[in-house]
Amino acid sequence: MKIARKRDFPVHQVRRFLEPGPVVLVSSAHDGQRDIMTMGWHMVMEFSPSLLACVIASGNRSFELVRASRQCVINLPTEPLLDTVVRIGNCSGDEVDKFDAFGLTAQPATHVDAPLIAQCHASFECRLHDDALVERYNLFVWEVVKAHVAPTPKNPRTVHYRGEGQFMVSGNERSRRRLFKPEML
Ligand SMILES: Cc1cc2nc3c(=O)[nH]c(=O)nc-3n(C[C@H](O)[C@H](O)[C@H](O)COP(=O)(O)O)c2cc1C
Repeated sequence: MKIARKRDFPVHQVRRFLEPGPVVLVSSAHDGQRDIMTMGWHMVMEFSPSLLACVIASGNRSFELVRASRQCVINLPTEPLLDTVVRIGNCSGDEVDKFDAFGLTAQPATHVDAPLIAQCHASFECRLHDDALVERYNLFVWEVVKAHVAPTPKNPRTVHYRGEGQFMVSGNERSRRRLFKPEML
């Protein structure tokens, strides 16, 4: 196998390679207010219960809404929504209602007050599982309590942020199922 000839690289830019993606839209609601933010910094923590973690900067309006309500919906946008995803991540809900501003449809969720975004391929209703690291790192640990997923397309073209305004769109599926132990699938 070919050896990669690596060079020194600024540590503050390693996120370009490691940001997990896909980029998601976090919808939240509290006290008659609602908002949407774009998010790249999230990770899966556990299958069952279904736990996710994410970092939400405290300056974001969404931070206040999710902290107060202890709920959110994590929505999965696909390629046709890319411009909207970027625009949502470049304005504040203090200035606009992002559902109205970007022509997105809010649908009622089953277990949380935050709305689902109808145009997204999937929406995961989340309740706050652990806030121990919110003060220190703005890190919220969520339990997904309900998942809504469109049956098609089977492999949605999700968008993944590389930094510097560059995105990668998922595609080029390859199966390596045969290399997995059954319990690792
Ligand atoms: C591609 C992309 C990824 C982002 N990822 C995050 C993130 O993981 N955490 C975060 O706090 N802000 C992230 N942001 C910035 C927020 O989406 C942005 O600050 C947004 O305007 C906050 O909206 P709000 O003030 O209405 O909550 C991201 C923005 C973009 C464009």
